[in-house]
Amino acid sequence: MCGIVGYTGPRQAYPIVLKGLKRLEYRGYDSSGVALLHNGKLNVYKKKGKVAELEEYVIGKDLDSGIGIGHTRWATHGEPSDRNAHPHTSSNGRFAMIHNGIIENYAQLKTELQKKGYQFTSDTDTEVLLNFVEDIQNNNNCTLEEALRIALKRVSGAYCILIIDSNDPETIIAARKGSPLVIGIGKGEHFLASDASPIIEYTKEVVYVNDYELAIVKPDELILKNLGNEKVTPYITKLDMELAAIEKGGYDHFMLKEIFEQPSTIYDCLRGRLDADAGTITMGGIDQHISQLINANRIMIIACGTSWHAGLVAEYIIEELCRIPVEVEYASEFRYRNPIVNKGDVIIAISQSGETADTLVALEKAKENGAFIFGVVNAVGSSISRISHAGAYTHAGPEIGVASTKAFTGQLAVLMLMALKMAFVKETISKERYKQLLIELQDVPEKVDAILKNSESIKTIAEAYKNATDFLFLGRGYNFPIALEGALKLKEISYIHAEGYPAAEMKHGPIALVDEKLPVVFIATKDSYHEKIVSNMQEIKARKGKIISIITEGDVISPTLSNHVFSIPPADEVIAPILSVVPLQLLSYYVGVSKGIDVDKPRNLAKSVTVE
Ligand code: M6R
Repeated sequence: MCGIVGYTGPRQAYPIVLKGLKRLEYRGYDSSGVALLHNGKLNVYKKKGKVAELEEYVIGKDLDSGIGIGHTRWATHGEPSDRNAHPHTSSNGRFAMIHNGIIENYAQLKTELQKKGYQFTSDTDTEVLLNFVEDIQNNNNCTLEEALRIALKRVSGAYCILIIDSNDPETIIAARKGSPLVIGIGKGEHFLASDASPIIEYTKEVVYVNDYELAIVKPDELILKNLGNEKVTPYITKLDMELAAIEKGGYDHFMLKEIFEQPSTIYDCLRGRLDADAGTITMGGIDQHISQLINANRIMIIACGTSWHAGLVAEYIIEELCRIPVEVEYASEFRYRNPIVNKGDVIIAISQSGETADTLVALEKAKENGAFIFGVVNAVGSSISRISHAGAYTHAGPEIGVASTKAFTGQLAVLMLMALKMAFVKETISKERYKQLLIELQDVPEKVDAILKNSESIKTIAEAYKNATDFLFLGRGYNFPIALEGALKLKEISYIHAEGYPAAEMKHGPIALVDEKLPVVFIATKDSYHEKIVSNMQEIKARKGKIISIITEGDVISPTLSNHVFSIPPADEVIAPILSVVPLQLLSYYVGVSKGIDVDKPRNLAKSVTVE
């Protein structure tokens, strides 16, 4: 949550910082701001609302500067407003700071500072941290770097901060713990950001800063130190990402582009790993640890949101194919309770961003208890991928739309590959079924493409139900998590209340909601539960609910019970979820758009949830 950008070098900083903020807006968008330094004077401009409002606000202002920091906010402490927007300036006006994260002991620090006479103009924890740094710097007459190091030893919580000093026209001091920071290395210039997207068009050489590291960044010098003031050698990596991947490419929204990218992202995920003709799955992270994986006493899957839904699908598949007990946990619950994790347990962490704070902390806890951590992550080089013992990337490319779409199908593809490989080695699957499922998986990109070619009919359904106030999504077996995912997508980007339920569970309560106004979406593809879900449709029809069904091509019964149907190509029930979710992504997209909602940046949400 929150996006941060910085630049120091020979160019004008403002256009670089502003463009970077637009790229990072998916991380938070309730206010934004920049701090620039001109002839020893700090110019700080900030505005409630999206980055476009800041852009308008600064017209005619002094933007001349070769150094700058910028922030786009997802509010934690203090409402979204001009005064709570970042950057914040220290009491003496000398320093400006931006921050992504939460300073947990800010209240205590604030009281201490207030006793010393400090006054605060915002409600943020960031302003407290900055004045704490200023106070240390004043009392010790030390450098900003030294003051920050001392301050961070007293701070608990998560942060990525950038500070500039009006007495030092070239240097940005940065530090991270728990919130991401990437530094791009240019020729005589440096770029800093929460992820690589603001940097990619200037340089492909980057350094991922680690927790508890401090960076002293000048145009032609980058020094990394730990909090003990020892130098750390920066490890330079080459970005494997093209600029086109982070632009809309002619689509109205990133979300739509990302939905339509799925045939190629799933293909990229399978490419070089799955060879159906040879009957092989080759994945370094799995192959090297296969005995640990298949001999796991138990697999625990830890994730949040959409990634948690991918985990639920994996639970069904791994238990069915590999006969290993699987538990799926919300990271936010796991980290605060006292879970039993033993040596011999395997943890699969699923995350698009690889930065979700709850997941990260849960993994650290499991790791301390001796569990083996396998990361299924999209963002290359992210924190979760780095703390995992092994893993597999989903290769979906940058996902910018706040609602996760192509990352989800990428997660399913990796988890399916993983389950198949484990089942094959463990010999819990017949050779024939293994071969058949490999062929089916290989065909997924083509089938997703066929679904997308039919997207117009989903638009019609969306138009018909855009004014509904509630939706129910029902599925059974492998499609139950898809019902949850369909409901989450709709809630997120259309603000319509929606619930996902196992279809059979409906009669234990939610059926009371059904009347002639309630749209009920059935994920009713042909599988071993099909007859049962058809009976559930009858139950809804008998109560006059409006039925929208996602069915398998050739199904003649479901259409007789449904008000609207959308057919998808036939697929084995293990593979079907990766197809059946696509029409639900489209449904939520078109409902959101027809209601005039900014589907890439729906209210109150942020793409990367780096706070608890
Ligand atoms: O980056 P992660 O996969 O760890 O994120 C987890 C959730 O925050 C995320 O899936 C969220 O639920 C999405 N907005 C869903 O569309």
